Amino acid sequence: MRHLLLAGVLTIGSLGLLLSGCKDKNSGHGAEATGSEIPIGEYGSMTGDTATFGQSTHNGIQLAVDQTNAAGGVLGKQIKLITEDDQSKTDEAVSAVQKLINRDKVVAILGEVASKRSLAAGGVCQKYGIPMLSPSSTNPAVTQVGDCIFRACFTDDFQGLVGAQFAAKRNWKKIAILTDVNNDYSKGLAKFFRQGYEGKGDLVSDESYREGDRDFKAQLTRIKGTNPDAVYAPGYYTDIGLILRQARELGITVPFFGGDGWDSPDTLKLGSVVDGCFYTNHCSIDDPRPSLQKLVADYRAKYNTDPDAMAITGYDAAMLLFDAIKRAGHANSSDIKTALANTKDFPASTGPMTIDPNRNALKPIVILEIEHGKQIPVESITPQ
Ligand code: PHE
Repeated sequence: MRHLLLAGVLTIGSLGLLLSGCKDKNSGHGAEATGSEIPIGEYGSMTGDTATFGQSTHNGIQLAVDQTNAAGGVLGKQIKLITEDDQSKTDEAVSAVQKLINRDKVVAILGEVASKRSLAAGGVCQKYGIPMLSPSSTNPAVTQVGDCIFRACFTDDFQGLVGAQFAAKRNWKKIAILTDVNNDYSKGLAKFFRQGYEGKGDLVSDESYREGDRDFKAQLTRIKGTNPDAVYAPGYYTDIGLILRQARELGITVPFFGGDGWDSPDTLKLGSVVDGCFYTNHCSIDDPRPSLQKLVADYRAKYNTDPDAMAITGYDAAMLLFDAIKRAGHANSSDIKTALANTKDFPASTGPMTIDPNRNALKPIVILEIEHGKQIPVESITPQ
């Protein structure tokens, strides 16, 4: 009888824990910081193909941690950042997150940049009830993984539409698309661009490649044959350099344009092949607002270089997470999750940020032009 009673109490107890944690898709109940530190996990591509994504994001996050700890920490505790390198690989992203949760008992996780890796590792965070905040994964499906998954950036339905509207504004009547079909982000952005461009002009060519390809001549030759006004290339910076060089060699002189995946110090170093090209991005470091200029100055002082978009989104995501922990009043996963969901007008360096009911951030997008190794802001657009 006593045993039965105990079993009953335990069941109700664990039910309560489950209910207070993240609710859908069999999520666990998360973790709680009990010591003098708050363990926060970060997973990212510190090495591998897209290393600038992980390194820049980490620099931004580390700056946020340093500033927050120097100012006394959060809830009287210091932030302890634990960083795992996923080597730009999807399966490594999954094991990185498993380690952070099971070994390090983190209460929340920052990452990833690449949507493909956020999608894979997000499932693990959801299962354990650990809130995950991606600084810059833009594919809509990322936050659809479950109610523990948040992002501190806009989504690609908006980004693709803005790209299409920009093409129309430039009077580009014939567009070619070149998509990385091995990349969820690239495929999604191409899809939303196509939808947005409908009725605005002709899609004269729709070509694809796979992440890691080095030779784009066949696709580019076909594109050249259709004589487009511009080429939309929603891939990562790792491919854009090769694509642009080969395109110019083949005599394609029209502008290429893309999305935030172009953002990297490497893109600015491409030289004349990228002059006159455009991409949509999270921010421009020339944005005069004081909060952004302070971050740019602090970042330069620490790292001796300008922050790119990933550094800035990394910083803002970390600051948002620390603010959510403060608002939660307790450093446990469940309360942090609720506080993240209730974010309204958080003063991010790039402007006020609100988290919508689908756990996405409402934020403006900027269009940048590349000229002589510099990004020139063309326009900033706020979502309706
Ligand atoms: N938005 C891209 C993705 O979802 C990642 C990215 C963010 C790339 C910011 C560059 C800058 O995959």
